[in-house]
Amino acid sequence: MDDDKHYHRLFLVPILMIIFLDLLSTVVVCDGGEFGFTFNGFSGANLSCDGMADITPEGILRLTNATKNLMGHAFYPETVAFRRSVIGNVLSFSTTFVFTIRYTQMSGHGIAFVVSPKTNFSTATPNQYLGIFNSFNVGNSTNHIFAVELDTIKNPEFEDIDTNHVGVDLNGLTSLDPHTAGFYRDEDGVFVHMNLIDPERMQVWVDYDAESTQMDVTMSRFGTVKPKKPLISVPVNLSRFFSETDMYVGFSSTTGPFLSSHYVLGWSFQIEGKSELVFSRVPSLPSSRGPGPFLTICLPIISSVTFLSLVGFALFVVMTKMKFSELKEDWEKDYGTSRFSYKVLYEATNGFVQGNFLGSGGFGSVYGGFLPTSKTKVAVKRVSHESRQGIKEFVAEIVSIGRARHRNLVQLLGYSRRKRELLLVYEYMSNGSLDKFLFDQSSPVTLDWYQRFRIIKGVSAGLFYLHYEWEQVVIHRDIKASNVLLDSDMNGRLGDFGLARLYDHGSDPHTTHVVGTTGYVAPELFKTCKATKSTDVFSFGIFLLEVVTGRRPLDPSFAAEEMILTEWVLEAWKRDEIGLCVDPKIGNSSNDELVAEEIDMVLKLGLLCSHRLESVRPNMRHVIQLLNGDIRLPKMSPCLFDSKSFKTTVKDYYDSDRQSVNDLNFLTDSILFTGR
Ligand SMILES: *[C@@H]1O[C@H](CO)[C@@H](O)[C@H](O)[C@H]1NC(C)=O
Ligand SMILES: *[C@@H]1O[C@H](CO)[C@@H](O)[C@H](O)[C@H]1NC(C)=O
Ligand SMILES: *[C@@H]1O[C@H](CO)[C@@H](O)[C@H](O)[C@H]1NC(C)=O
Ligand SMILES: *[C@@H]1O[C@H](CO)[C@@H](O)[C@H](O)[C@H]1NC(C)=O
Ligand SMILES: *[C@@H]1O[C@H](CO)[C@@H](O)[C@H](O)[C@H]1NC(C)=O
Repeated sequence: MDDDKHYHRLFLVPILMIIFLDLLSTVVVCDGGEFGFTFNGFSGANLSCDGMADITPEGILRLTNATKNLMGHAFYPETVAFRRSVIGNVLSFSTTFVFTIRYTQMSGHGIAFVVSPKTNFSTATPNQYLGIFNSFNVGNSTNHIFAVELDTIKNPEFEDIDTNHVGVDLNGLTSLDPHTAGFYRDEDGVFVHMNLIDPERMQVWVDYDAESTQMDVTMSRFGTVKPKKPLISVPVNLSRFFSETDMYVGFSSTTGPFLSSHYVLGWSFQIEGKSELVFSRVPSLPSSRGPGPFLTICLPIISSVTFLSLVGFALFVVMTKMKFSELKEDWEKDYGTSRFSYKVLYEATNGFVQGNFLGSGGFGSVYGGFLPTSKTKVAVKRVSHESRQGIKEFVAEIVSIGRARHRNLVQLLGYSRRKRELLLVYEYMSNGSLDKFLFDQSSPVTLDWYQRFRIIKGVSAGLFYLHYEWEQVVIHRDIKASNVLLDSDMNGRLGDFGLARLYDHGSDPHTTHVVGTTGYVAPELFKTCKATKSTDVFSFGIFLLEVVTGRRPLDPSFAAEEMILTEWVLEAWKRDEIGLCVDPKIGNSSNDELVAEEIDMVLKLGLLCSHRLESVRPNMRHVIQLLNGDIRLPKMSPCLFDSKSFKTTVKDYYDSDRQSVNDLNFLTDSILFTGR
């Protein structure tokens, strides 16, 4: 028995040592090479923490501390030998830990127990990737990562079953046999549901049996015996997944778009043995607010009861009011119908429950909802803004832009405001965002060329409208595949226009004034910080390349020379192999000669629009004419795009290619002007 082993050791060491160990709350057992450790609380524990993770003075491992969109990792500082030798199989192991998730408004993402060959997760991303993976490496078999996720968000991308589940993950986040959190009661085998975000201590056991290659995950309320029937029991042969003999064990967590904190209160790990915690020594979380019972002790019992019930009643009234409280100032009176009441939006989205969560975009989380009065489906975007500075101008602008109407724009229906939060109400787009169809390998729907070309034309029409046709010029500032939404007929519609202005008004001191998404930002914007139609055209060019190639503008999973989309396409063009850049998912429609021509034109137009030099880029008027076949792209040589020798190239280009200069319509003026 493991306990016996433990006692033997204690009898052998001097009394002082016992006291010392007791103070540390940490026991490391190394009998016969069987490695293990126990933290009944983390006081004095030597863990390797990064991100937000730290150990509180109470001896609690805090992985995240309520700040948004960040992550925290904590690993045992040394590697654990999971095999006896390089060629041996992965040994049995067991681990158990106690955790609590605390949240303010909505829970963020969950906690994961992780076994990994590395502890440097600097390239991982928070939110749905749980701080372990990023969109490029998730699911890649070279990760060699095993994790048990306690996930509080339903993410369709990873086939999550609900907003409260436990899953076993190998190399990615699509869990094997996920199960709703809870346990099977020993007495009658009935499943008892548990809520991961209840602010109480819960315990998880992870047991791997090498012989049967079986992975069991069990959970229960803290302080109870381990249920006999595991919550999850899946066959997994870890010998096939672990690359190294020695791996790190620890935890990863991420807050997501909401304020939440994730704590681990005790942890035990054992190779070839049973991991156990001493319940009485595992700390509990300090209560989150107020001095608590102290107050009542000072007051006579009767008066305290009266006092508390009065307070309770007052709190109830205040809370009900606060739940629907919103900010409304005099200047908003003019906006009449554009202004929604918070209560209406709260009810439309079922209280912003996770079941209504559609996704998180660059500016906040989006929830689906239904407005019963007008019988319309809407998408409500919650945008947080920390300061009130500039909010008046921004709301004025949003409301004004909301009057822009075009079949290729996602219509803004109105807004609402609360403290530190702005809610924008949009038309509901039933097919979601375009990036899903382009980049998500697991997406069952692929888009053929006709659909893609229609989407491209739609988006260009929407952008043209914003630049030229509406009463005022609107610069979009963040054109990219994930900001293009698809309606029920798969028409491309540009969303989020004007939203980047929120940060431009200086309401968020943490962002620089260059707004946009890496990979889509025109180079001059870094110098001038001034978004123009031309910087929009640049992003639009990148967007064109994305749609044709099905690749992101920057993809670190490719070799250096293929990482930057524009460079990759350009190099292929130079080798006269531009056709190889076409997304294979487009299918054989690209065999059609006409289609091949269109594709070729769009790729080159994409490069031209995203040209480094502003003056070379066409404007949206030209783009529309080109896409409609009203004008043709001039004959261009890929050298026109070579950044190093640009000046001479332009000159040579014109010398050798005089006759096409007249075709250059839009190019001539601009290039001759620059190349003078
Ligand atoms: C923590 O553990 C690491 C790895 O074993 C070791 O290098 C370091 O000195 C330890 N730190 C403390 C404070 O014990
Ligand atoms: C959370 O951590 C950040 C960064 O370490 C720190 O600036 C902030 O004060 C912490 N917040 C709380 C509530 O502890
Ligand atoms: C983690 O990896 C990144 C690059 O992947 C590197 O820049 C960084 O220095 C590494 N951090 C540590 C602590 O080793
Ligand atoms: C998996 O990662 C490796 C190494 O980073 C990379 O070479 C490979 O292309 C990736 N595979 C996929 C399918 O992304
Ligand atoms: C597990 O995988 C290893 C390596 O592929 C293999 O040697 C071993 O026989 C497998 N174990 C079982 C029980 O299938």
